[in-house]
Amino acid sequence: MPPPTEYRAPPTGVRLRAMHPDDGPEVRALHQAGIEEGDATFETAAPSWSEFDAAKLAGHRHVAVDEECGRLLGWVAAGPVSQRAVYAGVVEHSVYVHDGARRRGVASALLRALVTSTEAAGIWTVQSGIFPENTASLACHERAGFRVVGRRERMGRLRGHWRDVLLVERRSPLVR
Ligand SMILES: CC(C)(COP(=O)(O)OP(=O)(O)OC[C@H]1O[C@@H](n2cnc3c(N)ncnc32)[C@H](O)[C@@H]1OP(=O)(O)O)[C@@H](O)C(=O)NCCC(=O)NCCS
Repeated sequence: MPPPTEYRAPPTGVRLRAMHPDDGPEVRALHQAGIEEGDATFETAAPSWSEFDAAKLAGHRHVAVDEECGRLLGWVAAGPVSQRAVYAGVVEHSVYVHDGARRRGVASALLRALVTSTEAAGIWTVQSGIFPENTASLACHERAGFRVVGRRERMGRLRGHWRDVLLVERRSPLVR
């Protein structure tokens, strides 16, 4: 049996919508801020909008915005893991939330939006790599129905240090 999934609606005052190109600068700023925390990704610099746009699937990019001021509080986006036809239903995602908006359910709501959009498109697996030290991301994904598939040891070097990566995935029970 898969672990129970707890989904949450967006917190009060937060609205979810599709990402559009005008969000690019804020998406990049949130990305860069998360990168600089040191436990989000092997990347050391956030991609430009054109790089981001080329890598992420159009229907599976969502943002959370502050309803009052319109400021971006977080985003989630997914891209294909492979060009092979057999993996057409497998995507890899990233999720970033502004450090002033955490622990309010923003990432949970964004992951829910991603699960909904991907399942509607017939995508059966959503996966991500998480550093074991990123306990917030791990907890948040487990709560959203992801499971740890395994630990990949010394997968790559970040600023000269080898880092392990936990592969997490959510296999949709709906897409068969
Ligand atoms: C990981 C991240 C996206 C979580 O965003 P968030 O909006 O704070 O997450 P949520 O509020 O939806 O949290 C959902 C659940 O995850 C767990 N969680 C979230 N942050 C946690 C933390 N710092 N410590 C322990 N558990 C945490 C909790 O179970 C939480 O539910 P609860 O608040 O009811 O206890 C955010 O910390 C972030 O952007 N980090 C920097 C970028 C990053 O690491 N991205 C992921 C790359 S793999």
